Amino acid sequence: AASERVESLLAKMTLEEKVGQLNLVSGNHAVTGPFAPQDVRDAILKGQAGGLFNVYGAEYTHSLQEMAVKETRLGIPLLLGFDVLHGYRTILPIPLGQAASWDMKAIEQGERVSATEAAAAGVNWIFAPMVDVARDPRWGRVAEGGGESAWLGAQIATARVRGLEGSNLANTDSVAACVKHFAGNGATEAGRDYSGLDLSERALREQQLPPFQAAVASRARCVMAAFNAVDGVPGVANDRLLRDILRREWGFDGIVVSDFGAISELPVHGVAEDGFDAARIAFQAGTDMDMESRTYVASLPLLVREGAVPGGELDEAVRRILQLKEDLGLFDDPYARSDPRREATLIGSAEHRTAALSLAEKSLVLLKNDRQTLPFRRDARRVAVIGPLGDAGADTLGPWAAHGDPDSTITLKEGIEAVLGGSAQVSTLAAGAVDGSKPADIAGAAKLAAQSDIVILALGEHATQSGEAASRASLDLPGDQMALARAVLAVGKPTAVVLFNGRPLTVEDLDREAPAILEAWFPGSEGGLAVARTLFGLNEPTGRLPISFPRSVGQIPIYHDHLPTGRPAAPTYKPYTSAYIDLPSTPLYPFGYGLSYTRFEMGEPRLDRLRMGAGETVRVSVDVSNVGDRRGTAQAQLYIRHRVARLSRPVRELRGMGRVELEPGQSAQIVFSLTEQDLAYWQPGGRFAPPEGGPIEVHVGPDSGQTRMAVLDYRPRGPSVAHDP
Ligand code: IFM
Repeated sequence: AASERVESLLAKMTLEEKVGQLNLVSGNHAVTGPFAPQDVRDAILKGQAGGLFNVYGAEYTHSLQEMAVKETRLGIPLLLGFDVLHGYRTILPIPLGQAASWDMKAIEQGERVSATEAAAAGVNWIFAPMVDVARDPRWGRVAEGGGESAWLGAQIATARVRGLEGSNLANTDSVAACVKHFAGNGATEAGRDYSGLDLSERALREQQLPPFQAAVASRARCVMAAFNAVDGVPGVANDRLLRDILRREWGFDGIVVSDFGAISELPVHGVAEDGFDAARIAFQAGTDMDMESRTYVASLPLLVREGAVPGGELDEAVRRILQLKEDLGLFDDPYARSDPRREATLIGSAEHRTAALSLAEKSLVLLKNDRQTLPFRRDARRVAVIGPLGDAGADTLGPWAAHGDPDSTITLKEGIEAVLGGSAQVSTLAAGAVDGSKPADIAGAAKLAAQSDIVILALGEHATQSGEAASRASLDLPGDQMALARAVLAVGKPTAVVLFNGRPLTVEDLDREAPAILEAWFPGSEGGLAVARTLFGLNEPTGRLPISFPRSVGQIPIYHDHLPTGRPAAPTYKPYTSAYIDLPSTPLYPFGYGLSYTRFEMGEPRLDRLRMGAGETVRVSVDVSNVGDRRGTAQAQLYIRHRVARLSRPVRELRGMGRVELEPGQSAQIVFSLTEQDLAYWQPGGRFAPPEGGPIEVHVGPDSGQTRMAVLDYRPRGPSVAHDP
């Protein structure tokens, strides 16, 4: 229910003022920083803007709030939104990299940093988390999400909403989270942004919606309706998604905002005749706020006057927006977040940089490490950093880096210098450009490699090659980086490749030829230091892939929880099976994969009972030993498969993860709890429920590609039998 203050305000509002609250307009950016152009200032003064986005900075946001509060008839403060996807000023690894940490506490902590910094600059609303489940790495926006697993995505969504919103939304270090893009945006066709798509109800429910539902259950206050259509209906016009599922099924009481200009795109989709029609359709479907298209301000007053849109529904939308402002504490003190003192002390603080370093370290995934090439010894004297990404601040930050500062970003070269101190000579050679616009200096690179004790190849993508509107048809290393790598590897010095990228790349050749590969994603403000500490053994790589790496784009979509077939592919090609004649059907690196600097041995999973009855929980345990010669963190993942059900179910579905730190020679158990709810899937009757019963395969292993199995007899109707250990 709305507060009294909200109700009494609503009672005083004119129709135009009400519609004004539904209008969200963008600021602009100049060398001096963000600013509101004249038309935006006019909209504020006329009470025709409920919120602004892309404006930040304590003093500036203070002046905007002052304008709204002191110079308008009703003095309603503004929502101030910003895309803070992986940090405001202190930039954390890209969300896909954070997901590779599989560490929910660290992710939540990272969002606390983001929220604290953004809020200190007057921002009260963040367009994150992006929770689209993505199985097509050609789509540039895989960088922004949590990868291919809906289950992992749901855990991450919860952690991120909690971190952003904090314990009380009214706190000056809390912001409203806006979970996006509702829905199906990750199920792109051929990796193209904004594409239409055809999703079955099952795929929507099981693969796309779980992270959104988890975010809503964690009280995300805002949902962003997607650009794309699902079953022919674009996100902002999709009343089934916005009203039936989001509001009625899930009980969401926050606000729904459109994606940028999406309402005005309805005629382009071919589902509205003109702006009026678009406004009517989007509003009635349940889109409360119009981001930047200004279709609502232009059309809704007339539509309400004519009775085409019920005034009661308009009141409902305005009430939700005002209530969010109330919950954010904006009516009590609109300037509380715009605090120059907090801005000066909190933003980029040593504590935040430490959190960024720690999350960056956890995000790194060791993809290959032959003959213990890594970690390198710290007494190396001549170190060569070769490749276009070795000393590139902006590319260390990655896409959507908010107010991040490339100049205060620790690049790989700087990180290595910091780790090795003055006694080592660190030489860098970009040797060409990422995109091939400058030819690679292959001879120079080989010469430098020959003069060095160890070589680090810094390869991958530019920040701008991932993110929104950055779909790629090829996932090979861009430009002539592979030729550069070959020439350097041919010199034969101890060499490790560090990959900077926002998505899985197709690096089969590199995997064959390079002795060591470390996946760094775009690791953020402290990224170069995190990578250097890992290369030189001060940090152990513990990241695990949240998305499969294909061998070739021809394998896409490729993901661990695919459906079975009556003719499964064999380990080597067999005709008339579900296989390629020219490529294995497995990914290069499977979901969940990642190496350590030590080696582990893992036993078979053990169940504490062989049958699961209704409402019961089964304890699954696995023994793991550190059989290498370094301390390390063993990790196990738990997957299930319904061996026999009424429907053919995925061959693996993630249901748990666990880890334990072990000294060399030490062993321990990793224990999981498997509940009846973990067996649930979208039933033909239209609800999530466990099946009627049947054998469940319980797979445990270090990644989705190497698991061992126990079988559980699920009998919700029969008596349960305790397992004799
Ligand atoms: O939040 C973003 C969204 O993810 C993509 N379009 C623009 C929005 C606002 O910047």
